[in-house]
Amino acid sequence: MEKRKIFVCGETGCLSSKSEEILINLKKVIGEYKLEDQVEAALTGCFGFCEKGPIVAVLPENNFYLEVKPEDAREIIESDIMKHQIVDRLIYTDPDTRQKVYNPGEIGFYRKQVRRVLKNCGIIDPENIEDFIQNDGYEALRKALTSMTREEIVREMKESRLRGRGGAGFPTGLKWEMAFNRISDEKYIVCNADEGDPGAFMDRSVLEGDPHLVIEGMVIGAYAIGAVKGFVYIRAEYPLAMHRLSVAIEAARRKGFLGKNIFGTDFSFDIELRLGAGAFVCGEETALLRSMEGKRGEPTSKPPYPIDSGYLGKPTVVNNVETFANVPGIILNGASWFKEVGTPGSPGTKVFALSGKIANVGLVEVPMGITLREIIFEIGGGVKNGKKFKAVQTGGPSGGCLSEADLDIQVDFDNLSAKGAIMGSGGMVVMDEDDCMVAIAKFFLEFTLDESCGKCTPCRVGNTRLFEILQRITTGNGKLEDIKLLKTLAETVKTTSLCGLGQTSPNPVLSTLQKFEDEYIAHIVEKRCPAKVCQGLLVYRIDESNCIGCTACAKVCPVMAITGFPKKPHTINQELCIKCGACYSACRFNAVNME
Ligand SMILES: Cc1cc2nc3c(=O)[nH]c(=O)nc-3n(C[C@H](O)[C@H](O)[C@H](O)COP(=O)(O)O)c2cc1C
Ligand code: SF4
Ligand code: SF4
Ligand code: FES
Repeated sequence: MEKRKIFVCGETGCLSSKSEEILINLKKVIGEYKLEDQVEAALTGCFGFCEKGPIVAVLPENNFYLEVKPEDAREIIESDIMKHQIVDRLIYTDPDTRQKVYNPGEIGFYRKQVRRVLKNCGIIDPENIEDFIQNDGYEALRKALTSMTREEIVREMKESRLRGRGGAGFPTGLKWEMAFNRISDEKYIVCNADEGDPGAFMDRSVLEGDPHLVIEGMVIGAYAIGAVKGFVYIRAEYPLAMHRLSVAIEAARRKGFLGKNIFGTDFSFDIELRLGAGAFVCGEETALLRSMEGKRGEPTSKPPYPIDSGYLGKPTVVNNVETFANVPGIILNGASWFKEVGTPGSPGTKVFALSGKIANVGLVEVPMGITLREIIFEIGGGVKNGKKFKAVQTGGPSGGCLSEADLDIQVDFDNLSAKGAIMGSGGMVVMDEDDCMVAIAKFFLEFTLDESCGKCTPCRVGNTRLFEILQRITTGNGKLEDIKLLKTLAETVKTTSLCGLGQTSPNPVLSTLQKFEDEYIAHIVEKRCPAKVCQGLLVYRIDESNCIGCTACAKVCPVMAITGFPKKPHTINQELCIKCGACYSACRFNAVNME
């Protein structure tokens, strides 16, 4: 009889909620009952539904347990494994119907997802190469090396119309074809695993959950273009992904999938890890290559493109983690299989990291062409705490904000850019009625400003000026002319900056201006922040009818702006008030209002 398997989510999110302890306890109980020949427990990749983690799945039945605690391990073994009785209390309850959902595919979060890149996350142990092999692992590589020419691989990739998942959406097949055509004694292939966008954890999750899939894609790419060596550039802040990759590279070498004469052919290739120190600009490919060469991680102007002059001046292909993870599926199943989902201009699926004010924070893989509404409301479960949806920021810090009016657009590379946002690498941050869009633009701009390498003036100085104007507006010192100034300056920074960081950094400003200009006007003309976020624009007043004169507010006011006798209503001197909000937090009688 085949062994049953218990998979515990072993990704950063669930690990921080004690999933490793769950595994230890499971193993302990398995040992106690001497069930080792019947069941095996291991860590696996992210199931995506991180909001309900830690998650434990029992295979082959796929009994799917959520919000599991270490002390639940015993019941899972004693009930599910020993008696084949599902532990009902750990099964998902549909929030609308209040019914238990036993088949995870029917949970709202999963219903519309198509898991191709994430296909092995949840069903294999990422540190066990045998698990990967059992799920078609390295079959695409075998096919590529033993039955396809380099030209055929490039043709299949072009035919698939896969677009790079690192942000710009450049056709992967075309990039590979250009690299294939370059004549050079040495060529390189690099996996960009920098992933510096706040709110993004797609690439990290793929590497942690299924590192061999990325390695397999890289080796196929290396063979296609004729690369002698590959590198994974990964940020040192991703220790678990680094560990799993190292384990996987070592195991692949031992099995002969990396190293000399792979699959008995004359093709030899190996991969090395290169660690980044965690600078957003080092995700930009030319900066990444300079960083790999041991130089300052500063972008260089393009052309020349890495395809012509990359690592050490040699032709180099730089692709994103998710791009490589798509390759084995295309080679094994063909380009037409790949195009069965998605839109004509953006075939396939895309992995998104949902975060912000969304009920189901997590990782999703959806077919391109799905609407934003489906992602946010059906998969993501809508806005947290019943609040009203206001906007969604796609594409990371240099992406754009989309409003309620855009919810029905079909998500793909072209539709998002047509609306002033970008696909980016797949971060999706949801905002609700409590978010101020001017403050949001300022927040993202501050991030890019901090991360700018400072090499070119438009990005270094232009973004600083943009930030100062936003600062002025959010503190009540804005002028109407500032809106025009923001627009022209933002356009200038976009068109004159050297690299993609500067060229996209004004996107949050431009997109919020385009969709939420009324909020900017309210800040400037009415000196009011409609979402009540911008401290400098708030007015604190005491409602006399609620004030019982407890003096709590007066005690905490740092500038002694509050006066009044005990047991009598207090008042705030607006001239003195520095709008710190201490009184608002201190009052237990709802007497201090924020206007
Ligand atoms: C500021 C900046 C940061 C970037 N960060 C990343 C990143 O973390 N990961 C990534 O794959 N691409 C990133 N890119 C895009 C890369 O420059 C490059 O286009 C990409 O790695 C190419 O791979 P693809 O064709 O598979 O998308 C970044 C670009 C810019 C301008
Ligand atoms: S645009 Fe910004 S990050 Fe890019 S090179 Fe210029 S200063 Fe550096
Ligand atoms: S907001 Fe701060 S400064 Fe103003 S009255 Fe309240 S405690 Fe005093
Ligand atoms: S981290 Fe465990 S489900 Fe995502």
